[in-house]
Amino acid sequence: MMSKKDIVFNYPSKVVFGEGKAKELPHRILELGAKRPALITGPTMPKTQAFSQIKSLLEAAGIEPFLFNGVEPEPPIELLQEVSDLIKKERCDALIGLGGGSTMDFTKVLGVLAELGDVTLDQIVGINKIPRKGLPVILMPTTAGSGSEVSPVAIFTFKEENVKKGIVSPHLVCDVAIVDPVLTWELPRHITASTGMDALVHAIESFISINANPLSKELSLSATKKIYGFLKRAVHDGKDREARYNVALGSLLAGMAFSMAGTAAVHALAYPLGGEFHIPHGVANTVMLRHVLEYNMPGNEKLYREMAEAMTVVGGNGNVSCQSDSVEPFRVIDFVIELAEAIDVPTQLRDLEIPKDAIPRMAEAAFKEKRLLGNNPKRLSVDDIRIIYEKAW
Ligand SMILES: [Fe+2]
Repeated sequence: MMSKKDIVFNYPSKVVFGEGKAKELPHRILELGAKRPALITGPTMPKTQAFSQIKSLLEAAGIEPFLFNGVEPEPPIELLQEVSDLIKKERCDALIGLGGGSTMDFTKVLGVLAELGDVTLDQIVGINKIPRKGLPVILMPTTAGSGSEVSPVAIFTFKEENVKKGIVSPHLVCDVAIVDPVLTWELPRHITASTGMDALVHAIESFISINANPLSKELSLSATKKIYGFLKRAVHDGKDREARYNVALGSLLAGMAFSMAGTAAVHALAYPLGGEFHIPHGVANTVMLRHVLEYNMPGNEKLYREMAEAMTVVGGNGNVSCQSDSVEPFRVIDFVIELAEAIDVPTQLRDLEIPKDAIPRMAEAAFKEKRLLGNNPKRLSVDDIRIIYEKAW
């Protein structure tokens, strides 16, 4: 029987990381045996230099992809069925997801729907409901945040219920992840900031998760050092190559960590802010961060101390507050809030113009996130959650 500390390592067959690695896309498509891929992206992507470069690369290799560029942030789940029909009609044999977390999540599930004709969306929402693998999928993140390029998770907004729900399955893990930090160079400052905070939350939550294992913990710590150490620089100067490189690598490491250990109560309490009020995911996480971390700290001081120490050993980045053999555990909370403030990501619910009377129903919604709350190092009742929301106001 497996114990919580057993390590199950389930990742894409190939993870290609490095500056300029986007150039390998045509080679990776041919390697998968694909001839007619679909390129799935968002509406603003075709205006970027990164997109033009990828398009020329494909043209030079004689690959003519079917383009769908209608994936908005937090796409409605209904769009999947529509695009899946298009993909089938165009007889596409692989998918390339180029964009942030929403685009990559969309592409992963699209691959399943387009290939498995007998499967409907209703049947696959939840954990381990996808019967088999879909079309081959290549993911190319243009943000350093979601970790979707390595994770078995996809999150969607269900408009009628105003909630976000997850689809989790090993069959959602993509075939090839191409993580090229150059693709993040054109990101606007506020998106670098909020997606970077999401990545940092992945590192922290996977580290304190009750399902962490020795490998995921190393990945979480390493991710923390890179993201915490370089995010401020990446936000202040989007062309700072060293910072972009390290934040992209940190985000990848954090994605690998939470793919094993999961995320926890910060994400659970953030989802209702996205589901009902459409607050960007990284911002929603950041406003919940301080008070969830405070709630979780008693009994977990050792983990907090390790995290805080990881944030003080980074060099050359201007973020380091102190250098000490023994950092007080609560300092981890100060460190992350100071960072969020320095890069202008809101840290309090009141900054988001959400009516205070929404708290009871947000607490009910967050309490239903059993998958995430089950990873949290402390139990939470509906009342505990309501109190955290009130403190986070
Ligand atoms: Fe996240």
